[in-house]
Amino acid sequence: MSNTYTQKTAETLEMIKDPTNPQFFRQVMGRYPTGVALITALEEDETPVGMVVGTFASVSLDPPLVSFTPARTSTSWPRIKATGRFVVNVLGATQEQVCRSFSGRGGTKFEDIPWIPSPEGAPLLEDAVAWMDCRLEDVFDGGDHEIVLGLVEHMDIANTELPLLFFQGGYGQFTPHSMATAGPGLEDQLALVDRARPEIETLAQKLGCDCLIGGRTDREIVLLASAGLGNTEWIPAVVGKRLPLAAPVGRTAMAWAEPQEIEAWINSGAGVDSTEMRTMLSKINERGYSISVDAVGLEADVISGGRLDAREVMDPGTEALEPTTTGQVHSIAAPIFGMDGEVVLIASLYGLPHDMSSSEVDRYAAELLATSQKISQNLPVSQT
Ligand SMILES: Cc1cc2nc3c(=O)[nH]c(=O)nc-3n(C[C@H](O)[C@H](O)[C@H](O)COP(=O)(O)O)c2cc1C
Repeated sequence: MSNTYTQKTAETLEMIKDPTNPQFFRQVMGRYPTGVALITALEEDETPVGMVVGTFASVSLDPPLVSFTPARTSTSWPRIKATGRFVVNVLGATQEQVCRSFSGRGGTKFEDIPWIPSPEGAPLLEDAVAWMDCRLEDVFDGGDHEIVLGLVEHMDIANTELPLLFFQGGYGQFTPHSMATAGPGLEDQLALVDRARPEIETLAQKLGCDCLIGGRTDREIVLLASAGLGNTEWIPAVVGKRLPLAAPVGRTAMAWAEPQEIEAWINSGAGVDSTEMRTMLSKINERGYSISVDAVGLEADVISGGRLDAREVMDPGTEALEPTTTGQVHSIAAPIFGMDGEVVLIASLYGLPHDMSSSEVDRYAAELLATSQKISQNLPVSQT
């Protein structure tokens, strides 16, 4: 199928399908998407220099090495090389204009571009999503390009924006598969997530943890957005993850659901105790949020009557956390209501500090509730 496509495209462009034909080589390579990185350095006379590359790659963990391949025709690369150092700025989805200014040849690319010095002095760009401050380790022959190896001496994630992507001459950003094909019921929630995003970014930054937004269909809970630095070890590849809406998963949404919906949710849960689930839902409804705690370190019998033996214990209540039964709080979750009073999204805190006291949990929960209420108030009025 893809062979036919390449052949057809090549024929249309009257191309010779030969790897030594640069046009054909570019066309085939253009099928592979890349991120976009800005390589910067500071020359001896303090002049900042930079070039955009799509060939940035992670090479080695031990020692920490990265690479990129500058063209031999580049005028910026020899200047960067002469400094013996460089910074890799991973550009964010909103930095397409910055990318365009830096992919031009030479000139005063840094005009109107705010930057701060990296630990070793090279330009760190505002709004780049991540950066690596590197020592030039080695340069190899790469045909009409050079292959550059850098030893990473300092690095960090600067913000939680999505990175800028480049594919076949166009710019874009990442959309997880499960979101792109969200299916019926999630489109409206995805539109709402965009309105909620600034609020969850602020909250995650303020509390120093991760904040996730989940949506729901009739059958599933889908994680739609995340903010924070990704401390959430136990949910891999967070955004796009789908969980079946079956008791006890989705309890924060179900705590405000109609009785028949709750009935169906409990019936679809494997081996759950109906009374226990109903008690839990009314507790969450009363309190306004749900919490879950790692069973390790807690007397599971005290909090769940011994029936929930999963690693995660649902809603022990903050009183169970003290004085001697302190456990790891995994998550605190609160509903975001639509205009009709239905739960449209769920905001959750993950990657929380270890061994939180009950008063700390209360403080985090209060901040989460304030944010989810603010998001609820900002949602558009229902059209139905
Ligand atoms: C998305 C994108 C990716 C690029 N990747 C590379 C690359 O990997 N290596 C390279 O030499 N040039 C790459 N370029 C082109 C350079 O950015 C550009 O040719 C170079 O900066 C020219 O300016 P200079 O003469 O100041 O170096 C890329 C351009 C764009 C827009």
